[in-house]
Amino acid sequence: MRTVVGITGASGAPYAVTLLRHLQGEIDLVVSKDARKVIALETDTTAEALAKLATNAYAPDDVGAEIASGSARYDAAVIVPCSGNTLAKVATGLADNLITRVAAVCLKERRELILVPRETPLGTVALDHMAALSRLGVTILPASPGFYGKAETPQDLVDFVVARILDRLGQPSDLGARWRGL
Ligand SMILES: Cc1cc2nc3c(=O)[nH]c(=O)nc-3n(C[C@H](O)[C@H](O)[C@H](O)COP(=O)(O)O)c2cc1C
Repeated sequence: MRTVVGITGASGAPYAVTLLRHLQGEIDLVVSKDARKVIALETDTTAEALAKLATNAYAPDDVGAEIASGSARYDAAVIVPCSGNTLAKVATGLADNLITRVAAVCLKERRELILVPRETPLGTVALDHMAALSRLGVTILPASPGFYGKAETPQDLVDFVVARILDRLGQPSDLGARWRGL
């Protein structure tokens, strides 16, 4: 499986770091300019170190990269975390950088596209964008972990969300708690 991971400048960089540590198969990584600031603030890693977890890494303005084309054979893309800025661009068809271009390719090629928005409260504009994209088949997977797993650390909550992303991609994982019934 070949997956594009786009990291944008919303809070929630640890979700992206954890996904990159567990995602199997070929990985194409794009980190937005503003995501670099959030990665520096929220994690103990860097975009350069994360690139080592990927098969290929691209600059966000590299719209001539292989993955900018629908002819590139990747199976899915995950934008995690997904800023309201990138959400709005994807919903309105703007493809002004490599992350938004990959999303546009997924929409036109009808490939799996997963967005992990992180914002609260959610404004009507963002909600409208999410609803429109959901109707197009995009998976809106909010960064909102469940607490029934009795998380002991913040990482447990991160794992919960990343496990749902891996589930959606059809990849096996033992991350995070699954509900086993009362
Ligand atoms: C520390 C920090 C935290 C941020 N958190 C969020 C957030 O949770 N959600 C969001 O939509 N934008 C957030 N932003 C704003 C985005 O970074 C900003 O809208 C930026 O233009 C996004 O660009 P991008 O989509 O190209 O990464 C945050 C910015 C900073 C510096």
